[in-house]
Amino acid sequence: MKITFITIFPEMVRSFCAESLLGKAQSSGAINISVVNPRDFASPPHFKVDDTPYGGGAGMVMLAEPLLASIRHARSHSPGAKVILMTPSGSVFSQNIARKFSANDLIFVCGRYEGIDQRVIETAIDDQCSIGDFVLMGGEAAAFCVVEATVRLLPGVLGNSQSIAEESFDETGLLEAPCYSRPISLPEGDVPAVLQSGNHKLIAEWKLEQRCEITKRNRADLIEKKENQTNGKT
Ligand code: ADE
Repeated sequence: MKITFITIFPEMVRSFCAESLLGKAQSSGAINISVVNPRDFASPPHFKVDDTPYGGGAGMVMLAEPLLASIRHARSHSPGAKVILMTPSGSVFSQNIARKFSANDLIFVCGRYEGIDQRVIETAIDDQCSIGDFVLMGGEAAAFCVVEATVRLLPGVLGNSQSIAEESFDETGLLEAPCYSRPISLPEGDVPAVLQSGNHKLIAEWKLEQRCEITKRNRADLIEKKENQTNGKT
């Protein structure tokens, strides 16, 4: 899978993607990450990538021309890719969207300042994606979230495919059960006896009970959503 970031902070991307499982996924060839800097497509002598908005208002707008040239360049190296603008005005990202994104090469346009020229959105963007109802200082950190969630679904990226089979936001609609490791006893508490029992049926029942309880306590909205789906309301 080819992933391209369009950003005026290329080092931010390179250092984030070099670490941990994203670094390993690059070394194994499961993903190929590249970065395009709009400043490289800006005009001399000042190589400006932003300017004030027409009509007034706060902040600066990312200029259309360097962004359009960056997207054209990225597309020429990744012809079938989806071009995704990271913006708080986009559709909210989810595990389902991560599954969809994992089927394509991706180009992330990471905005900064107040936003990007609308003509870029109308002519060169396939999807607009938000990671939640809050405003970050730019799209890079948001794109990192989307890339992590998407890349971990690719075959061979996680060591154990069971970690994808039973997890939060799987088809049960429940959050994950708590997990424990050594030692069995700590001043802070013991590992639940059932997990030490070796009885897989009892363990599965315990995990399901825990998942229901945690979901009810932390995310009652997920239970409601699942019930509505079951009753055919959504
Ligand atoms: N850029 C700034 N805030 C953002 C958000 N919440 N999601 C995606 N991109 C963003």
